[in-house]
Amino acid sequence: MSTRSTVAPNDLRAFWMPFTANRQFKQAPRMLVGAEGMHYTTSDGRQILDGTAGLWCCNAGHKRPKIVKAIQEQAEEMDYAPAFQMGHPKVFELANKLVDLAPYPFEHAFFTNSGSESVETALKIALAYHRARGEGQRFRLIGRERGYHGVNFGGISVGGIVPNRKMFGTLLTGVDHLPHTHDPARNAYTRGQPEHGAELADELERIAALHGPETIAAVIVEPMAGSTGVLIPPKGYLQRLRQICTKHGILLIFDEVITGFGRLGAPFAAGFFDVMPDMIVCAKGLTNGVIPMGAVLTTGAIHDAFMTGPEHMIELFHGYTYSGNPMACAAGLGTLETYADEGLLTRGAELADYWADALHSLRGLPHVIDIRNMGLIGAVELEPIEGAPTQRAFGAFLKAFEKGILIRTTGDIIALSPPLIIEKAQIDQLIGTLGEVLRGLDI
Ligand SMILES: Cc1ncc(COP(=O)(O)O)c(C=O)c1O
Repeated sequence: MSTRSTVAPNDLRAFWMPFTANRQFKQAPRMLVGAEGMHYTTSDGRQILDGTAGLWCCNAGHKRPKIVKAIQEQAEEMDYAPAFQMGHPKVFELANKLVDLAPYPFEHAFFTNSGSESVETALKIALAYHRARGEGQRFRLIGRERGYHGVNFGGISVGGIVPNRKMFGTLLTGVDHLPHTHDPARNAYTRGQPEHGAELADELERIAALHGPETIAAVIVEPMAGSTGVLIPPKGYLQRLRQICTKHGILLIFDEVITGFGRLGAPFAAGFFDVMPDMIVCAKGLTNGVIPMGAVLTTGAIHDAFMTGPEHMIELFHGYTYSGNPMACAAGLGTLETYADEGLLTRGAELADYWADALHSLRGLPHVIDIRNMGLIGAVELEPIEGAPTQRAFGAFLKAFEKGILIRTTGDIIALSPPLIIEKAQIDQLIGTLGEVLRGLDI
């Protein structure tokens, strides 16, 4: 007997939906009841082409057999194991596989349950690392305008999305921000990395001089900012950030919650751009979004700085009840196997040109003011309606869903990040339908 729920519940009151226009949604709910391959099924039986890999996380598509089987078997074998002072084989296996997949010099993985928790973990490791080495005066954390690092207090403090910050008090102290790199006046309609903006990394020198470089613990950036509208790093920018961090003994953290696991056409953006940070934050694609899980990858040097003192003592006072949860580990192992079997972590590179051609064919449609792309990610930026920012893109999102495609909007930017299993014909369908939506927009 199928357990699929095909009818919508008739009382939507209790659930306070995250990052959602609750009142709008509850007047006209968009209910998903099934998912397979590249498609969702709605409660009224329609097929929706997934243009966003869920929330940038289902990189291998939906209902993938190896992941389903791994979870089913794990539930039978062992549901939960205590995460502190105990272990189970799959968590070690997954950590080994993960560091094998990551570029050198990442040697260790600390598990969490989400991107937000991974960010907090990395920031805490950075502070504690400096302290463990006798540099406890390094307490400052530097983020970037328009950065998204999840929703916990550390993440919103270093993050740079105004509505995510302004309602929530004083946040962390000792935080400063680099300028963002979005510069449509100079870079609009660039395919791949923009030419202009590497010099924006030099702002780190100004911030370091302002506060004293010896007070800065870490800089955290998304190598390619996803949630704030797909901001591709200008050529040379990440290299310069790396140089300045190294010069001042500042740790560089890449938040790869979106770019990790193949989005740009390589397993991680660090490898893709050939710029090595000191820590990589990941989540989402780690388990194909199926079971919540995140991780922080660190170098041997960072890990080893903690491995001092009496051996019976806990080295890092940090962790979660569900760090390395067996079900999540099983999902992670099934996911990595699926990626490897199907070559998905480099498929974005194979499809990148086709994807770019399709996306840029939308140039010239009503309200479009910029298009950008890289690997299998892309953005179409719309001119905001005067006095009503976000409304135009949200209107496009609703129309797109009616027409059978799932897109994502942030501000007036439409972001696309389909599962890496997408076929060329499905790219045509996704972009073709988006084109119809944009042509038909009456606002
Ligand atoms: C770059 C980045 N960091 C952190 C997060 C937060 O992840 P989560 O929603 O799993 O907490 C996200 C989520 O989109 C993200 O894109």
